Amino acid sequence: MTSAASPHLFDAVILGAGAAGLFCAARAGQRGLKVLLIDHAEKVAEKIRISGGGRCNFTNRDLDVRAPQRHFVGENPHFCRSALSRYTPADFVALVQSHGIGFHEKHKGQLFADRSAEDIIQMLLAECERGGVTRWQPCRVGSIRFLASGPAESSTSSYQIESDRGPVLARSLVVATGGLSIPKIGATDLGYRIAQQFGLPVVTPRPGLVPLTFDGEAWAPYAGLAGLALPVDMSTGQGKQRTHFVEDLLFTHRGLSGPAVLQISSYWREGEPLQIDLAPGVDLGARLLEAKQHSRKRIANELAALMPHRLADAWAERDAQWQRPVNEAADKALQRLAESLSRWQLVPSGTEGYRKAEVTLGGVDTRALSSQTLEAKAQPGLYFIGEVVDVTGWLGGYNFQWAWSSAAACAEAL
Ligand code: FDA
Repeated sequence: MTSAASPHLFDAVILGAGAAGLFCAARAGQRGLKVLLIDHAEKVAEKIRISGGGRCNFTNRDLDVRAPQRHFVGENPHFCRSALSRYTPADFVALVQSHGIGFHEKHKGQLFADRSAEDIIQMLLAECERGGVTRWQPCRVGSIRFLASGPAESSTSSYQIESDRGPVLARSLVVATGGLSIPKIGATDLGYRIAQQFGLPVVTPRPGLVPLTFDGEAWAPYAGLAGLALPVDMSTGQGKQRTHFVEDLLFTHRGLSGPAVLQISSYWREGEPLQIDLAPGVDLGARLLEAKQHSRKRIANELAALMPHRLADAWAERDAQWQRPVNEAADKALQRLAESLSRWQLVPSGTEGYRKAEVTLGGVDTRALSSQTLEAKAQPGLYFIGEVVDVTGWLGGYNFQWAWSSAAACAEAL
């Protein structure tokens, strides 16, 4: 990469042709700006392609645009409000409809493409085309310099970006390089490095929406339950910090997964316990004591009327007093059993890491950015959008909506 050649001139250079980068490029281009979109990956928008099981859960209808922070995690959950209330799920749905893409609601407001995530990618590429966006891909990015006085023909400051297709000069630089999740499809820390280069703080990144793991020995009694799924109420934290989700839990060979665990993983902190109610909405103690009055069935069989058979069997095996007919069990033993199922406490040893995480928590500290425009407060012309920012949504389309909304807010300001 050399800067000997004369630079290509653009109004804005956007790094990262993922969800946020493509959408920002399209909207800025459609405003009449000369936009260059650069990505080092061979294929465009790989994360959209693999999202939502290949159908892309592109937004969520339940997002309350007056209080969107409820569905987002970050050091300043209110930061996301401005962008999300100005470009809403309804706006993105209108765009999807204008391209004739069929979609459906699955669960709790989650909207998916009927056919394929590829339809969403093609829509974004068509929008870029309409905006006359230039896309360089694959293209490696080298050093980045801020030229305070700007090029001779312009009176403004600018950014000089070295790339393996030559140097580029632009008034604005938009960083949309995402987080660290799924490195094998192109995730890198470039966005965090650019933030640090320009003196912006970065909240330490960590994997989010990720399965949780347990020590081999501690997990041995449950490993046989791998593949079992059931609805649970799962919580972490104490008092006002307590967060809980009622969703499905999935047992795996190494630990726990499923929507309940992915959601709670974004709030869980290393060393903290999780509490799980394996029969939410059921008063297990009362049901077992009542069964004791008229039933001679084994305890595991009574339990199996209230939860999956495999779980009931595995649980009853944990204590000799639970391996007998219910009418022969002591009240205290039944109550202890009920309690162990409705307040199962366990401490994960870790997570499956970025290899399996759907998102990266942390990122560019929102205190250093304008919530209106996503521009760095102390660095004119430098913007951060999408997942690279310390704004992380719940599972269910919230992360793509943040990508669309932050991109739209930035494109308006470029
Ligand atoms: P994104 O990761 O999309 O794009 C970043 C781009 O930057 C990539 O194209 C990358 O190649 C490029 N880049 C990185 N480093 C670079 C470098 N050094 N040089 C040049 N380019 C570089 N969310 C949701 O709302 N609904 C869903 O259904 C799902 N499903 C889902 C499934 C799976 C398996 C994963 C991993 C994630 C999801 N997500 C999701 C999360 C969602 O995919 C994610 O939040 C958005 O893609 C973030 O958009 P960004 O544009 O910020 O980053």
